[in-house]
Order: sequence, then C-alpha cells, then structure tokens
Amino acid sequence: MKRIIAPSFLASDFLRLNEEVEMINNSAAEWLHLDVMDGRFVPNISFGIPVIEHIRKATKKVCDVHLMIVEPERYIDAFHKAGANNISLHIEASPNLHRSIQHIHSLGMKAGVAVNPHTPIDSLQDIIQDIDFVNLMSVNPGFGGQSFIEHTLIKIKQLRKLANDKGLETLIEIDGGVTLENAKAIFDAGANVLVAGSSVFKARNPQQAIAELLDV
Ligand code: DX5
Ligand code: ZN
Repeated sequence: MKRIIAPSFLASDFLRLNEEVEMINNSAAEWLHLDVMDGRFVPNISFGIPVIEHIRKATKKVCDVHLMIVEPERYIDAFHKAGANNISLHIEASPNLHRSIQHIHSLGMKAGVAVNPHTPIDSLQDIIQDIDFVNLMSVNPGFGGQSFIEHTLIKIKQLRKLANDKGLETLIEIDGGVTLENAKAIFDAGANVLVAGSSVFKARNPQQAIAELLDV
C-alpha cells in the first residue's frame, strides 16, 4: 500500500523557514503538512494564508493544508489561491460538508475530511466515496508534540474496512503523535500517510527520520 510522509511545519523553526522547506525539498517526504488554527475550533492559533503563500513559492512538494477552523468553507478559495494542493476540513466544523468537498474538487485540489478522536468512523459512511483522503486525528487537534491515542489503531482498521467494503482506495492520513516507535503499527493497521511534526523537525537528522519513518 502507498506510503507517504507529511512533515508538519507546526514543529519547524519559524525563524529558519526557508532552510526548513529546503531541507524537506531534499528529503523523501512527498507532502508538506500545514496546520491552520483559528483559536476557535481549537484552543490555539498557528499561521495562515501569507505564510503558506511563501512556502508554496519555495517548494514543489504537495501542500497539504489542514484547516482547524470554524466555517472552513469560507476560506477554500483563499487557500487554493495561496497554493494548497490538498485541503482537509473537519467534519465537526462542516454542516454542509458535501458542498465543501465539491467546491474543493472544482478547484482541482484533493479533498480530505478530518475527524477528531471522539468522532466515530461510521460518520464517514456517506461521504467517503466523495473524498480523496481522511485525516484521522490521533491527538486532540490544537497542538504539536502530544502523545498518540492508541485507540486510533482500531479506528484505522475500521476505516480501511469501510473503504475496502465500498471498493475505494481512500488514503488514510494519521495526524498526531507519530513516532518511529509507533509508525509500523500505524502502517500495518492500514494507514498511508503519516503526518510527523516533532518526530521530524526535532530529530537530530530530520531527513534520516523521514527515511526511517517510510521504511519501518
Ligand atoms: C495537531 C496538528 C498536527 C500536529 C502534529 O493539531 O494537526 O498536524 O502538527 O504534530 P506532532 O507530530 O508533533 O504530534
Ligand atoms: Zn494537522
């Protein structure tokens, strides 16, 4: 099954952003994970459109924008213009999720649905056929550097089964607390994309950490 590493820039050194992007450009990572937080959907504020515009100019990698904001549908066009290739929005923040997914696709981007740790896999039953990937949160959204919630492994298996039963090749992205120690179990459960913030950017050799995560 396809494996992708998506380093999360939330854990990068913002004073050296250019070097951090360059380092990822020369690594085995295929996606850059960009966490947008509004201080309302989650109890933290990160970065937004102007920062992503600059990162876009510095990389050819896939810009994977994770919107942890209320009313995410209001900002789909703006993040597209900023250079997003993928947008994931939270099911918990989206009463008109299907319309938003159509909107993301109409702009030529990949569409993902992000689900919080308490949100059951069953809630994806009637949207999974319309999306490219699920961002399955393995921590409560809002902060980097938290511990992986073990129950996520059960949810990955349920989600892979749901996709298989419908004949879909939905990508499963796991977001939060991914380390070299748990990456194999996560891939084995059926995930494809590992978001990795602290375990990449705080590593002594981040490029090696990415290669090792891919190869567990
Ligand atoms: C959490 C974010 C994650 C976070 C992951 O709200 O969505 O993408 O940056 O960071 P680590 O890998 O440090 O848990
Ligand atoms: Zn994220």
